[in-house]
Amino acid sequence: MQKISLLVGALVIGIAAAQAQQKTHIDPVKVDAAIKAAFPTAPADWALRLTPDETMKQCSASHNDPAKNVAAAIVTREKASIEYPADGNFIGDWKKGEALAQNGYGMRFSDYPPARPNGGNCYACHQLTKKEVSYGTLGPSLLEYGKLRDFKPDAVKATYEKIYNSHVALPCSNMPRFGANKILTIDQIKDAVALLMSPDSPVNKGQ
Ligand code: HEC
Repeated sequence: MQKISLLVGALVIGIAAAQAQQKTHIDPVKVDAAIKAAFPTAPADWALRLTPDETMKQCSASHNDPAKNVAAAIVTREKASIEYPADGNFIGDWKKGEALAQNGYGMRFSDYPPARPNGGNCYACHQLTKKEVSYGTLGPSLLEYGKLRDFKPDAVKATYEKIYNSHVALPCSNMPRFGANKILTIDQIKDAVALLMSPDSPVNKGQ
């Protein structure tokens, strides 16, 4: 028994020492300064992205695993950012949505000054159709996304909200906040919703 408690004691001291060591070695102020210094020619609106907002700070501090009350505060704050289509219609044109999903234009250093609207770059992280074989896997496959949700109106609205601000569905999501960060317009988000939620889109026809 004594041996076990000694062992536990040693472990606790070990963990505390490791934490103390981490704290002395990582000075967030220096890290921030180094990151900012690394992008001396960043365009003004891009440079703003080097300063984390409250949600990013809370997600970083908790390694994307915030306490329940912090998570709830993030969701409330992010939800408040959502602007809804004036006519209450969430579904645009899936063909434009497919082009948007393919398009990675925008917000790179080579895209300044912007020559055309940003793309959504969804394929960089998601499988969406069978036809497109080049896609990333950071996010889940969205094949048959609408079909699996029976194209329900509630799911249509939730999809719009997810794309507008991914942190509403998952407080520390790794998916860009397309609407909240002004990457995509409301109409572009509606086109992406159409790609996912229209019965005749290739996502749902298994094409
Ligand atoms: C940088 C990577 C990245 C990009 C780009 C991205 N996503 Fe995501 N997406 C994710 C990750 C990671 C998840 C899973 C975690 C989560 O739900 O936030 C996700 C989840 C989702 C979900 C929820 C899936 C489910 O099963 O509930 C939808 C819908 C979605 N993405 C749509 C899109 C659309 C549409 C685009 C393009 C406009 C897009 N994503 C671009 C990373 C990305």
